[in-house]
Amino acid sequence: MAATVNVDGQISGEREARISVFDHGFLYGEGVYEVLRTYRQRPFLFEPHLSRLRVSAERIALPVPWTDAEILARVQATVEAAQVPQDAYIRLLLTRGVGDLLYDPAACPAPTTVIIVKPLVDSPVQIYEEGVQVVLVPVLRNHRQSVDPAIKSNNLLNNALAMQQAITRRGFEALMRNHRGELCECAQSNFFLVSKGVLRTPPLEAGLLAGITRAFVLELAAALGYAPREETLVEADLATADEMFLTSTTKEIVPVVRVDDVATGALTTIGNGRPGRITQALSAEFRRRAHADTRPAPVRA
Ligand code: PDD
Repeated sequence: MAATVNVDGQISGEREARISVFDHGFLYGEGVYEVLRTYRQRPFLFEPHLSRLRVSAERIALPVPWTDAEILARVQATVEAAQVPQDAYIRLLLTRGVGDLLYDPAACPAPTTVIIVKPLVDSPVQIYEEGVQVVLVPVLRNHRQSVDPAIKSNNLLNNALAMQQAITRRGFEALMRNHRGELCECAQSNFFLVSKGVLRTPPLEAGLLAGITRAFVLELAAALGYAPREETLVEADLATADEMFLTSTTKEIVPVVRVDDVATGALTTIGNGRPGRITQALSAEFRRRAHADTRPAPVRA
């Protein structure tokens, strides 16, 4: 794996990196994070990732005592130290920090920042060429008035439980419902459906992470004239969908060709069981824009 880790400004190899067992990120899962990737050594969509990190931190009343430029400088220093020959995976975590065994935020005077950089392992080409099977799991996505899925929190047990069920059934992802039974998102990605030429994805109100890739795809779909809609989607919409795809930072756009429902054992084929035309057009445009991202490097601290 060969990761390079930055703990509170201290860069080391993965074996040397340490945090305290009294860090509330470890004790209580109190922390927030972002996963970014580079294209041609540049962190892609850095600004939206950072603003989502700040929104997540605010939602758990975690002060972020650094400017964007300071955070970027730490990320860049870690990417440079990692000397990853290809593109890099970057995980940026911010926890409540070290303190006594109390829920009172005042117990932790300073947050802990961790940046993990490792080579980005490209997903096998077959998943893009042939599409994947996802598993519709019985584990419900957290209620928005509980641990709101909009908070990109280090507290990932809901996602891990859903993925366990998907992995048992050899699925690529776990498709999840909210407490009302509507489809909301997957354990590690957002999803879109195409039905009769209309591109749709669940609204944020359904209780999901405001994916940076989701927003980017909504933007480029509109630019390509697909008029995407954010609309409530339910299980019955899968049966009538012509296309389905997942979006995430590390996987980009992944076509879905089958949905395996744990509750009924039914296997629904999406469209003709092959990646769809609109999915492929969006995927090609996504890659073109990501690789052609020539905006000047964000400012250094
Ligand atoms: N996963 N929904 C959930 C629950 C996620 O964890 C993720 C991201 C997404 C997609 O968001 P984005 O497009 O911003 O990556 C949606 C990241 C990659 C992860 O945790 O590894």
